[in-house]
Amino acid sequence: MMALVTLNELFATDYAGAFCGFDFVNLETAQAVITGAEELGAPVILMVTEGGVKYAGLDYIAAIGKVAAKNARVPVALHLDHCTKFELIVQAIKAGFTSVMIDASHLPFAENQQLTKEVVRVAHAAGVSVEAELGRIGGKEDNIQVKAADAFMTDPVEAVEFVAATNVDCLAVAIGTSHGIYKGEPNLNLALLQELKSVLEIPLVLHGGSGIPTTMVKKAVEIGIRKFNVWTELAVAQTNTIRAVLEEKPALYDPRPLFTPTIAAMKEVVKSKIQLTQAGH
Ligand code: 13P
Repeated sequence: MMALVTLNELFATDYAGAFCGFDFVNLETAQAVITGAEELGAPVILMVTEGGVKYAGLDYIAAIGKVAAKNARVPVALHLDHCTKFELIVQAIKAGFTSVMIDASHLPFAENQQLTKEVVRVAHAAGVSVEAELGRIGGKEDNIQVKAADAFMTDPVEAVEFVAATNVDCLAVAIGTSHGIYKGEPNLNLALLQELKSVLEIPLVLHGGSGIPTTMVKKAVEIGIRKFNVWTELAVAQTNTIRAVLEEKPALYDPRPLFTPTIAAMKEVVKSKIQLTQAGH
């Protein structure tokens, strides 16, 4: 049995490659993430968005995450993903999350910096790791929608100032990925990632991990991405499985045969992303 760990504890290990963070919204998603990670012996990050909290309730979702981590045979961090609200971050820390993301990327630079600094102060006092975002990642992530025209890439000069001023533990960088299903071919600015990596010492996080060509993901990990976030491909696997089961068995009334196969389908996504982001694969 493994204990819950913080993101910083994961980052301090010699795990080669990027740690995968998967958003979960229910028991089945959590089970798929944990069993997939266990089958590969890889540490993993269970993440919950604000939308996930709204859907399941903070206490319920935290309880699922904590039980999953306690029973897991691999280290697990429980992370609040893309949180825009200071109060919710405090509640999540109290509920046992070991890591939080403050997403104040919609605010002007100075305000993002100030709010992130406040979050770091309370989170570090509780031994909790903090991720922040600089630049703006486009697409739709639950309750956060960023139009392509409003998305912009992380500025390396600002990033250096931001990290020094906030003491944040890791940084989500905007280098051309987008949340949700890609409309066109994703085009990552790997030269910018290289530049960010050369000026920042903290781990870098890539969001929008669904649907990126594998060669690009591998390059991003080689350059130094240390945390890789995935949700949409899990959501699609879960929903498509439910649709297929219902088409095959329209008279089904017990929900269990409906949900059980979703775990295997999501687990395949989990394993393929973990393998993709492990160095040397
Ligand atoms: P996708 O939904 O594109 O996989 O992005 C997930 C993510 O970045 C969660 O923070």
